[in-house]
Amino acid sequence: FLINRKSPCSTKNGGAQAPPFAGREQSLIEDARRSAAVLAGLSGSSRARDGLVFEQKDGRVTINVLFALSGTFEAKLLHVESRPGRKSKNGATDLEFFMKCEVHSSDLDVFVNSLKRVVDDVRSVPEEKVPWFPRQIKDLDRCNMLITKFDPDMDQDHPGHSDPEYRKRRAFISELAFTHKQGEPLPTVEYTAEEVSTWRHVYRQLRGIYPGLACRQFLDGLQQLEEEAGYGEDRIPQLREVSAFLKGKTGFQLRPVAGLLSARDFLCSLAFRVFQCTQYIRHSSAPMHSPEPDCCHELLGHIPMLADKEFAQFSQEIGLASLGASDEDIEKLSTLYWFTVEFGLCKQNGAVKAYGAGLLSSYGELVYALSNEPEYKPFNPEEMATQPYQDQTYQPVYFVSESFEDAKTKMRRYSATIKRPFAVRYDPFTCSVEVLDQPGKIQDSLSRLRGDLKTLQSALEKFS
Ligand SMILES: [Fe+2]
Repeated sequence: FLINRKSPCSTKNGGAQAPPFAGREQSLIEDARRSAAVLAGLSGSSRARDGLVFEQKDGRVTINVLFALSGTFEAKLLHVESRPGRKSKNGATDLEFFMKCEVHSSDLDVFVNSLKRVVDDVRSVPEEKVPWFPRQIKDLDRCNMLITKFDPDMDQDHPGHSDPEYRKRRAFISELAFTHKQGEPLPTVEYTAEEVSTWRHVYRQLRGIYPGLACRQFLDGLQQLEEEAGYGEDRIPQLREVSAFLKGKTGFQLRPVAGLLSARDFLCSLAFRVFQCTQYIRHSSAPMHSPEPDCCHELLGHIPMLADKEFAQFSQEIGLASLGASDEDIEKLSTLYWFTVEFGLCKQNGAVKAYGAGLLSSYGELVYALSNEPEYKPFNPEEMATQPYQDQTYQPVYFVSESFEDAKTKMRRYSATIKRPFAVRYDPFTCSVEVLDQPGKIQDSLSRLRGDLKTLQSALEKFS
């Protein structure tokens, strides 16, 4: 509800020219009497007049106001805030109070009439529309909108476009993803000898240049995957075993996807530490290039980085920022994702190294990005979010972060500028997103945080 209390003293203009204090007081008293209001006293207050207790300083008055609504009903106040309202004819701006209340449906009329007896203008306003977003991990089953322009059926430049066998095989593997439901075992694919041969070619080429060009976190992750999750050039790892590996490292898990997802659906899964992964492989005629994501891009480019705790946290932060964001903000976040998770560079021991999956799964662009040709810019989310990007050829510009910690801090600051009428927090116990839009929910979250802080405090005490 919007409640409009017309009060010239409530605005800057009104305050400056504010003679009608008496009028305001009178109006308050009148309303208070009408609604059987009780005005409570302030401890340490400096003045009292006609039963009103207030503090006065420099011509301004601070007053605590208590008013009661008459009528028999139960109402719970969920949220209250003041807002500048409409401009009145004399140029002053009204002050409005927005309240979100919960009241039994049979009491609604009594409640609204009671409000109307106290204030001039009571209106019910529709809630701000926020795009739907998943609240629970199983809601990801609904996040499967595909962008088909790069798949071999639609893209005439796709190396597999004129190969019906390839298209049939890709469609079969995509169907496994289409029918997958969250919580079910991840599908396994029996890869053919030709597919393994393509994988081997890619693996061998890239593995040879990683040590000099990839960042430390990537190399550590890849080594662990080779030791613990069956990575190597002779077989294509199954999503099931890679997902189990990641779960133990950073809590990330994989989910099969049928192709290139829409930015909103892809980003929202990151909020749940779920990474959507294609399972088909690129065409054998072009092992070093794929116009669409394939298992080489996912397994070689993305997965080693997701085994790093800092990077996993960074990825989840982008996902959380996307929940309920406007289309405009989703576009900015996906551009940010593009210049970090896909094409990001970082400084390490005085050298620039790659951490972006688009680079680490493309021999040509990886070498190009770390040559003297492209332009480098410092990591700056505001600038990155609007930087034009290139999805047909190499990027002309790359952004270089000081560290993942630095990138995470700046990303968090940027996310706070995204306009949403709530904050979100991931609850790993229930695999769900908490929407913090009511004081009670924030209180619950704080209680849990206090428990964590006590544990840390007790750990610190043991050291001292
Ligand atoms: Fe990717």
